[in-house]
Amino acid sequence: MTETKKPLRSQAWFGRQDKMGFYYRSFLKNSGTPQDAFDGRPVIGICNTWSELTPCNGHFRDLAKHVREGVLEAGGYPLEFPVSSLGEVTMRPTAMLYRNLASMDVEEAIRAHPLDGVVLLMGCDKTTPALVMGAASADLPTIGVSGGPQLRGVYRGQIIGSGTNIISMSEQLRAGEITLEEFHEAEAGMNRSSGHCMTMGTASTMASLVEALGLGLPENAAIPAADARRNHLARMAGRRIVEMVHEDLILSKILVREAFENAIRTLGAIGGSTNAVVHLLAIARRVGIELTLADFDRLGQGVHCLVDLMPSGRFLMEDFYYAGGLPVVLRTLGEQGLLHRQAPTVNGKTLWENVQAAQCWNREVITEWSAPFKPEAGMAILRGNLAPDGAVIKPSAAMPELMQHTGRAVVFESIEDLHARKDDDTLDIDPSCIMVLKNCGPKGYPGMAEVGNMPIPKKLLKQGVRDMIRISDARMSGTAYGTVVLHVAPEAAAGGPLALVRNGDMITLDVPARSLHLHVEAAELAARRAAWVPPPAHAGRGYVKLYTDHVLQADQGADLDFLVGRSGSPVPRDNH
Ligand code: FES
Repeated sequence: MTETKKPLRSQAWFGRQDKMGFYYRSFLKNSGTPQDAFDGRPVIGICNTWSELTPCNGHFRDLAKHVREGVLEAGGYPLEFPVSSLGEVTMRPTAMLYRNLASMDVEEAIRAHPLDGVVLLMGCDKTTPALVMGAASADLPTIGVSGGPQLRGVYRGQIIGSGTNIISMSEQLRAGEITLEEFHEAEAGMNRSSGHCMTMGTASTMASLVEALGLGLPENAAIPAADARRNHLARMAGRRIVEMVHEDLILSKILVREAFENAIRTLGAIGGSTNAVVHLLAIARRVGIELTLADFDRLGQGVHCLVDLMPSGRFLMEDFYYAGGLPVVLRTLGEQGLLHRQAPTVNGKTLWENVQAAQCWNREVITEWSAPFKPEAGMAILRGNLAPDGAVIKPSAAMPELMQHTGRAVVFESIEDLHARKDDDTLDIDPSCIMVLKNCGPKGYPGMAEVGNMPIPKKLLKQGVRDMIRISDARMSGTAYGTVVLHVAPEAAAGGPLALVRNGDMITLDVPARSLHLHVEAAELAARRAAWVPPPAHAGRGYVKLYTDHVLQADQGADLDFLVGRSGSPVPRDNH
């Protein structure tokens, strides 16, 4: 066995020849584990988010077996353990409310147990940031293994994409363009295999960023869940994590500033989800890197969107993998001087060493730099008297003619208010108006739900309107699209200026100038503020109270204030 550079952490449990050593070894022997498993080999935790309530991660017990095989082959001792799972579509009010809770679960589970290294099994949207945040605060050698996207959705001969076509088909249903039977038939065609959403939504975006950060093995982003090569990757991760323990390659040696800058540029090049902004900010702050919204705007400059994937484009993650996947995108960025080539990765090579020979097999899916899918990419960060701490818009998902626009505000005080009035024929709204939604931020919803892409009011849908400017403190599904200003900070429920907007106010969105301006005099705003009453508390006890008392604003990653930073993995005191 390869010599380790420092004593294994797990030996504080298993290396003892006393009463406590008996306890620690004896109970694990009931699963058939022989004595030699405790002889000083690396103990690898397989952190599993399997749950029937998280269908995107429903294949993770099988995936974990492949990781386990790899760990055993490399001379490690695998121990699989469950953590909170976050099913994006099943959790109410929003899985994001529980991202930070799950991250605490992960961090404390890692620290409390006799582990030397960890493999994170992640898939559905929030499971990736939750596990990476928790693991980052614990800071052991760590590899991320994503579960992989579903196969393409297919309905009546048409390719359909997760979320993206749900949104368009639900609009068609509301407009009476399709029947309920057709709607139900499409549901089964959409999710026809294991895996997470197969558009470039938040899950695929985060899986791509795991690879771009150097935290996953090459090809992690796009291999479909149902493709045997996903299992190969899991097995190789199992082998590699044992070596990483011997090398003491802890997570904070991977998650360096250059890695985050690579991830931000990658986010632009893949046309990724706006949610990644919040998640990357939170992950960076766990390892002490002061990433800011300004970094997203600055680093996104000059980056082209290279992949023609839904929600903005035509193809799906399966096509992306067959075309060469993320290594092609990273190679292209590297050739343009837009990659920190020396950034470390979990396989011990630099990011550039991993991707420099990548080849593209389909230039329709992954375009050449000289003829990009979209020349403009990345996130635009807006500021102004309506968003003093920033707001986010994804220009590539928006209508170009609305990038500079002044319109009359039509205000909804809450999501309930929106649902109650959006289809009212008497709603005073036209396509030039700007829809404003309040109280959907981290504290306001609570959890900052994905409701920022408000449905177009029915009377406008009937006129053929499919997009208009919408502004809120909410997030938006990564599978959604439209001229949608999100993450307004400070949020309305925290007393941000968004709380002061009234029907009829004029608002100017100027994306080229990075500006979001409310045309109301300062004295009038001051008077409105004096009359403003904060919304009532969502809870008087329990996790929701803890969350709303401590959650940071979107521009700081919406983490809980006391979770920022890391404590490492000191061995806790004995439990007897
Ligand atoms: Fe799980 Fe979309 S619902 S990734």
